[in-house]
This record gives sequence, structure tokens and C-alpha cells, in this order.
Amino acid sequence: MRLFTTRRSFLGGVFVAPLLMGAARLSDARGGMDATKSRRPGPYLGAAVRIDQIEADARLAEAVLRDCASLTPEIDMKWDALQPGPGDWRTGPADGLVAFARRHGLEVRGHTLLWDQSTPAWAKARLERAPGDWKIVADYFQTVLGRYGEAVSEWDVVNEPIDSEAPDGLRATVFQKAYGPTYIERALHEARAHAPNARLVLNDYGFDYDNPVEHQRRAAFLRLLEQLKTSGAPLDGVGVQAHLDLSKGPLKREILAPFFTRIADLGLSIAITELDVKEDGRRGGVAERDRKVADHVQAYLDIALDQPSVTGLTTWGLSDRHSWLQKQPLHPSANPTGMNRGLPYDGALEPKPVYWTIQQAVAGAKGPSTLTSR
Ligand code: G3I
Repeated sequence: MRLFTTRRSFLGGVFVAPLLMGAARLSDARGGMDATKSRRPGPYLGAAVRIDQIEADARLAEAVLRDCASLTPEIDMKWDALQPGPGDWRTGPADGLVAFARRHGLEVRGHTLLWDQSTPAWAKARLERAPGDWKIVADYFQTVLGRYGEAVSEWDVVNEPIDSEAPDGLRATVFQKAYGPTYIERALHEARAHAPNARLVLNDYGFDYDNPVEHQRRAAFLRLLEQLKTSGAPLDGVGVQAHLDLSKGPLKREILAPFFTRIADLGLSIAITELDVKEDGRRGGVAERDRKVADHVQAYLDIALDQPSVTGLTTWGLSDRHSWLQKQPLHPSANPTGMNRGLPYDGALEPKPVYWTIQQAVAGAKGPSTLTSR
């Protein structure tokens, strides 16, 4: 991944590249076919993307190619996007994203196989009608992993399985109801069978702050990881989403570092999978708001990137323009001025202070020397 190590070289690239590139096809953005790109050692930098947005916006595509070594489909590889109906497969967008990544030598994170919220209604109905019938999951995994198994280096096999309020710490998802708590282990074995070379991951949120709910969530997640490792489940790592929120701060090393260490001590890698910042209230001038976001991310990365097991950092989008946070309800006391400014680029695709914070933190991080597939 080409990192702009100085502001000047970056800005030169930003302002010169589009002029030079003009209407150049995206495939030229990296100097043509670039199937085997050597990547600097240390954690990768990635972003959640949508292929329709990349294809519609050459400047977004340039930012993706400039900054990312890994892509995560924000929508296109979810069950409800891939198979909205029993025989209705919509693989075009995911195929397009995989082809784009392959053309430019980028890794792809598969997001996500099992997630309650992205399970299509027809599949939920079947799971509720015939609990215990694993065939619907087996068939889905066989098709999706058969199609993308070799193109995807890491799969979020189960997304957001934790509910710290539940007696067993597991969210009462349609899968948990249909198969019981062992669905997670079954899903990991099923994924391993169809994608033997991919890294298999459990991905969840709410592990970042010093408050009772997130204490319980960290404890529930660690219990689940220990159970899975004890049972020999084929689990390679975890994804911590890191949807940060200024109103929940401050971030504390004495809270976060032991959590990362406990995960690493289980022999699991850690991917930061959905970093962004909710600047609830959105009050103050843009410069002050951007400074707060950058300082908060700096505090998080100072802790997280100290952990050698952290393999990579993915932001949940690149530009505020596309952030899911624009659609989120605001705190009643919020007095929003414009869009939430929690991603590396603003709505006009200009880099903000947090862009430099992330670039310099990732560039300086040791981390694992390569993103080893299994
Ligand atoms: O594309 C359709 C559009 O045709 C239709 O008119 C519109 C009507 O609502 O819906 C559009 O699809 C929406 C899709 O985003 C694309 O914008 C879905 O309704 C909406 O539910 C979906 O939201 C996504 C959400 O996951 C559910 O898949 C968000 O963009 C995405 O950022 C969010 O990402 C999740 C991660 O996967 C897991 N971790 C939390 C994170 C934030 O919720």
C-alpha cells in the first residue's frame, strides 16, 4: 500500500493525480494491473466500501486506491443483499467489488455470513418454521464460500453474537433460537469446510469504554472466545468494530489494553473492523469538532496499535458523505450542524485531521509482519 508519509506528497498526489488521470479508467489509478502488490509490514489499512459508490465517484475510487490495502463490502456481501429471495441470487455487486480488489491487489474482508439484521425475511421465516434444520445455512455457506472463498482472506462468520444482558451472554438471534448456543461453533466449522484458507472471525461492537454495559460485553465476549477455543472451534481471530462515540469517552488504556491482551493470549488475532466516530451533539466549529475526533481516534489507536496481535484497521467508510451515521437518530440535546464528521474524509472528500492521525498511527505501528491467511 502506498502511504503518503508527508502532507506535501499526499496533497501533491491528491491535486496532481486527478489532473493527470483525467478520465483515466480506475484500473489505471494504480498503474494498471496490479495483482500482486507488496505491502509494507505491520497492520493493513482498509475501508468499508460499496462498489456502486466507487464506480460512480472517481475521486472516491482514487482515495480507496491511495489509502486502502483491504476492502470490506458495507452491504454487498450480506445475506439479504446476496439472496433477497430463495432462488433470487444478486451477486453482481459483490462480484464487482471482488474484481475491483483483485485488479488492484487489495484484500477483501467477507462481511458477513450470519447476522440477524441482514438475514433476509424468507430465510428468517424458514428458520422459525423449521428450527434445527441446518440445511438452509449449509446451502448458503456452500454457495457464498464456494463463490468467494478464494477471493476473501478473512470472513466475519458471525456478526454481533453478544448480548451481555442475556443469561448465556448470547444475543437471541434467529440462529440462536433455531439451533441453540452451539450455532456459532457450527457456523465456524461450516465455514472452515468451504473456505479452508480463509481466516475465520467473530465480529462485535461495544468493547471500547469504561461503563457497566461495555464491561459486561467485554466479559461476555471473552467467555465466548474461551469456550470456542476450549471446544476446538476453528476460530482464527476477532473483529472489534470500534464504533467510537465522543459522548462515551474518555478511552482508557487500563480498560482496553487488558481486553486486547486477553484476546491475544487465546492465540487470536484482532482486526479493528468498523472504526468511525459519532460526534454526538455536533456542536462547535468544524475545526474544533475535527480536532476532537482526531484526538479521540489518536487515543484509541495509541492503545490498540500497541497490541502486536492487531492485524489491521478498517474504517467504516472513507467519506462522511457515505457514513451510516448520517442516518442515525441524534441525542435529544443534539444541535446538529451538518453531517457527522467521524471518517477520514469530509463530505467533499477532503482529508481531515483524523485522516493524518490514522495514516501516521498505522504507518508507525509494528503489528504482525504480514496478514497471514491460515
Ligand atoms: O439499497 C436500499 C434502497 O434501494 C432502499 O430504497 C432503501 C430503503 O430503506 O434501503 C436501502 O438499503 C439500505 C442499505 O443500508 C443501503 O443503504 C438498508 O435499508 C439499510 O438497512 C442498510 O444499512 C446498513 C446496515 O449495516 C444494515 O445492513 C448500513 O448502511 C451499514 O453501514 C450497516 O453496517 C453495520 C455493519 O454491517 C455491522 N456493524 C454495525 C454497522 C452499522 O450498523
